[in-house]
Amino acid sequence: MLTIKELKIPGYKRVIEANESQSGLHCFVAIHNSTLGPALGGTRIFPYAQRDDALKDVLRLAEAMTYKSAIAESGTGGGKSVIIADPKKLKTPQLLRAFGQVINVLEGEYIAAEDVGSNVEDMLEIHETSPYVSALPLDTSSGDPSRFTAWGVFKGIQATAMKLFGSPSLKGKTILIQGLGNVGSKVANLVFWEGAHLILTDIDGNRLQHQAKLYGAHAVDPHGFLKIKCDILTPCALGGVLTREAIPSLRCQGIAGAANNQLENEEVAKLLMDAKILYAPDFVINAGGLINAASEFNHEGYDPKFVRDKVNHIYEILLNLMTQAEKNGKSTHQIAIEIALHNLSHLIGQRKEKIIFKPVGSQKKRALA
Ligand code: NAI
Repeated sequence: MLTIKELKIPGYKRVIEANESQSGLHCFVAIHNSTLGPALGGTRIFPYAQRDDALKDVLRLAEAMTYKSAIAESGTGGGKSVIIADPKKLKTPQLLRAFGQVINVLEGEYIAAEDVGSNVEDMLEIHETSPYVSALPLDTSSGDPSRFTAWGVFKGIQATAMKLFGSPSLKGKTILIQGLGNVGSKVANLVFWEGAHLILTDIDGNRLQHQAKLYGAHAVDPHGFLKIKCDILTPCALGGVLTREAIPSLRCQGIAGAANNQLENEEVAKLLMDAKILYAPDFVINAGGLINAASEFNHEGYDPKFVRDKVNHIYEILLNLMTQAEKNGKSTHQIAIEIALHNLSHLIGQRKEKIIFKPVGSQKKRALA
């Protein structure tokens, strides 16, 4: 049986908590803001220790999606969902289909996509019960977003290099990548071909050794990596890596990576600025995947070339905001929030056309055919 509870959270448009007894589903869906379009954000499946950890995570992630969408002008709003479960043990078709029933309650105000713990095949399973899903593995859909996220991060690393060294070239620069999953491994590949020296770390030892061998990289312990000297640090694992305590020991000149919510809190953005470490705000540099997923709802249909050109623009957006931050004596994070709020209040990038969703359940057979 499905039970849905509406939670009143100040500053959020809608937050729901749902349980479904047969599949064991316990999840939250948060819509922070939908001024510019329906909220599009990933479905994170993670074994949170406590209910409140999951709630805190979904709220933080949904708010960041509002700023990400506003700056990327993706015609979507800010939202996110989390399912409390270990994806390796408890991610079943029943659980995903029950989750589809939960998002149906929001009638298209929230659109799911893949995230940590979920993948494009899972989106297909959710689509068996709900039309409000993006990033399906079909030729009419946008598919795996990570190659676009990685390309956007690569452009962001180049923008950071431009600002720091006067050239976007990475030849001879040392890039330290934390997390070699879907995004991090692709970023490693891109910076390798640009002539960078790589330092790599991951909690998955086999993955780390494999990637280090591919790129002649130096593999380092995932616990002490923040103290290692490099030109640009590229966090591509989970959030919260940049803490107050960590800042004094950092030995990089710039930080540009994919992980969501890298800053422990807003104060850390100021501390980075004081330490003269140039930070590419996470919700700006990692917008490639969102731009890709949002574009499948364009009335002209999904076009990877359109997405590529839009993701390339992350380079200029970052360079401009880094210059504005320098001129105004503000952190890059602060300037990024100001740009997002400006776009929200002037309805810049607002979606004009109503989204037509793919009918439920019609896609799985096609994908398997
Ligand atoms: P993933 O799950 O494929 O890869 C994460 C990698 O980080 C794994 O190899 C894992 O072993 C490693 N890892 C986890 N904790 C670690 C730690 N403490 N130290 C070192 N390595 C650790 O995830 P994906 O898709 O590559 O995403 C990476 C980050 O980028 C996440 O924070 C995600 O939210 C963010 N992001 C991803 C997007 C996408 O298109 N996949 C879009 C926007 C943001």
